[in-house]
Amino acid sequence: DASDIEKGTYPHFMLKEIDEQPTVIRKIVQEYRDEQDEIKLDSDIRQAMLDTDRVYIIAAGTSYHAGLVGKQMIEKLANVPVEVHVASEFSYNMPLLSEKPLFIFISQSGETADSRSVLVQIKEMGHPALTITNVPGSTLSREADYTLHLHAGPEIAVASTKAYTAQISVLAILAVDTAKAKGIDLDFDPLQELAIVSSAMETLCDQKEEIEKIVSEFLETTRNAFFIGRGIDYFVGQEGALKLKEISYIQAEGFAGGELKHGTIALIEEGTPVIAIATQENVNYSIRANVQEVVARGANACIISMEGLDEENDTFVVPKVHELLTPLASVVPMQLIAYYAALHRDCDVDKPRNLAKSVTVE
Ligand code: G6P
Repeated sequence: DASDIEKGTYPHFMLKEIDEQPTVIRKIVQEYRDEQDEIKLDSDIRQAMLDTDRVYIIAAGTSYHAGLVGKQMIEKLANVPVEVHVASEFSYNMPLLSEKPLFIFISQSGETADSRSVLVQIKEMGHPALTITNVPGSTLSREADYTLHLHAGPEIAVASTKAYTAQISVLAILAVDTAKAKGIDLDFDPLQELAIVSSAMETLCDQKEEIEKIVSEFLETTRNAFFIGRGIDYFVGQEGALKLKEISYIQAEGFAGGELKHGTIALIEEGTPVIAIATQENVNYSIRANVQEVVARGANACIISMEGLDEENDTFVVPKVHELLTPLASVVPMQLIAYYAALHRDCDVDKPRNLAKSVTVE
């Protein structure tokens, strides 16, 4: 059928979409760059970012995980406070809104009903909304005031991969554009840094065999797995766990390294797989201490670190990218780990049980 043609030589859409990521990042750089090599962004969106006193990011699933990374970038670079909310919970636990809120909806499909119901609610309250989506004509795009396009191309596999990296890339560009508009002096050129990310991703996509080996060594027969990280690595761990759950059905959770001792470490038994992510200099020491703690209790631990921070015996080292953009590199091994774990278990990689690509019911 037609979908088989689109897959080309790939056995699964997910693998094809993982491999497309370097190209998607380059496409984003191209689409958001003007002739002077500066960021090209709709001036209304720039103004909305200048006018707001607090951004509320609303999203679900993988898009929510991209939002967590986006918050860090917008706060650190543009100095605008950001809250990130799971769409389905927002109306039950509605926060006290600031005077001039701006809502940012992150949605690959632009059709997620949980997000749409928040959009309807906040539009009734008269607040402005920006949608960041892969589908410009989608409901969330049409009903918001502004749209930023992800340019990731159609994503077919239920487990989202290239949309996540596209979302983080576009959020980085938005954060820097806002910073510049506010006159903040930055030594961070996202277009240049994203070009570096794109090459790093290419290297990572050529290392599939090494990742498959990690799966054979750490996840082959297990029923559960933990991902640990601190700071931004914690968010990537959450995404790594979600990917693994979605397609391999291994019970997985992403934990903050420092929180282990407050409960979770009780779950560690002989052979429990723990995947640690270490891409941040300020937590490199403490996350490695957490690895020691779980290893001392029998865990089968694997460290995924970044060039420059790596140590002997690390299981896998991702190429160096800017410290704010590390999720774009470290998530690739997470995606591939999930892919091979699902493959080794004969799971339906592209169409996992009980899940839908876009969920249009609340
Ligand atoms: C569904 C998909 C997830 C996705 C989530 C949000 O649950 O299975 O992969 O992350 O919806 O989708 P969206 O299109 O709003 O990003």
